[in-house]
Amino acid sequence: MLLFSCAVSSAQAPASVPPNDWAHTVKLNNGVAMPLISLGTWQYSPAVAESTVRLGLSLGYNHIDAALDYKNQRSVGKALAEHDRASYFLTTKVPSRTSASSAFADTSKDLAADLEQLGLSYVDLMLVHFPPVGNTLHCAAMQEQWRALETFYRAKKARAIGVSNYCQSSLRCIARAANVTPAVNQIKYHIGMGPDPIGLRSYGDRLGIVTQAYSPLGDGTGELISGPLVTGIGAKHNKSGAQVSLRWVVGHGVPVSTKSTSASHLTANLDLFGWEVSAQEKEALDAATSPKGHPSFMCDA
Ligand SMILES: NC(=O)c1ccc[n+]([C@@H]2O[C@H](COP(=O)([O-])OP(=O)(O)OC[C@H]3O[C@@H](n4cnc5c(N)ncnc54)[C@H](OP(=O)(O)O)[C@@H]3O)[C@@H](O)[C@H]2O)c1
Repeated sequence: MLLFSCAVSSAQAPASVPPNDWAHTVKLNNGVAMPLISLGTWQYSPAVAESTVRLGLSLGYNHIDAALDYKNQRSVGKALAEHDRASYFLTTKVPSRTSASSAFADTSKDLAADLEQLGLSYVDLMLVHFPPVGNTLHCAAMQEQWRALETFYRAKKARAIGVSNYCQSSLRCIARAANVTPAVNQIKYHIGMGPDPIGLRSYGDRLGIVTQAYSPLGDGTGELISGPLVTGIGAKHNKSGAQVSLRWVVGHGVPVSTKSTSASHLTANLDLFGWEVSAQEKEALDAATSPKGHPSFMCDA
């Protein structure tokens, strides 16, 4: 198995960033501390993205998850501009590219567009949003795209870089040419998929890549909010079904991105620490096979 051969472990944060001292963080493979809970912005109109980010930051969120593809980053940036840059952690993404000859230039443009739209001089975490369809076929383009992220990182425009929706095959592809090991692989991860779907989380653990969960509430099924398994367990702890679903994720040491437009839901979703489900309840949640989900919408293995 080919692993990342030359992991960078000493990225320099921009001089203006003080050491992270938040209570609930995970240390990435370059030493950067990433807050465990991030507020997502997928599917929000620009106006909703702006008001939700503003609300989330006022309620104590210190990690926002954005993407070029969400087409609302100018509004996210407006809400961020009301806060001291060092008080929050910003993750964003660039879409995948399939042409090896233009992937570096196109991705470099996308990286610059992310900064320009957000109104920032650097981001905390920059991700490649997803591998191209048939990532084996497009491996050279993926390697060129990763080279663009490494260049961005070395220019100190991102404090850490990573990927999203990458399977083992995608990670192996970029490892063959990478100088920097991805810090994060953001994947779909929720109850019903088991704690180590397709072995991807343990694979990331072995390489020093932090698995981060998206769609932790099950992608619109409602089962992980109001279904009998999570609400039954929640009732015993005076917690909601959604809180049980989110607690299951962080209980596995997996940072999570979740979203809500409701102040009460946002507040509840920060209450994931200082309590836990019993061993027996955890076993039942680990064993659940519904709702179904796959870690990536772009590759299988
Ligand atoms: N990398 C990728 O390809 C990718 C893919 C998908 C998502 N993501 C990221 O991950 C973020 C989260 O995933 P997601 O957007 O699928 O959302 P999610 O957090 O799994 O679910 C959000 C839904 O759950 C509801 N909800 C949230 N908290 C609740 C609570 N305490 N009680 C009851 N209902 C609650 C929300 O409704 P209310 O507004 O009514 O509370 C909303 O409809 C995204 O926004 C995005 O930033 C990344």
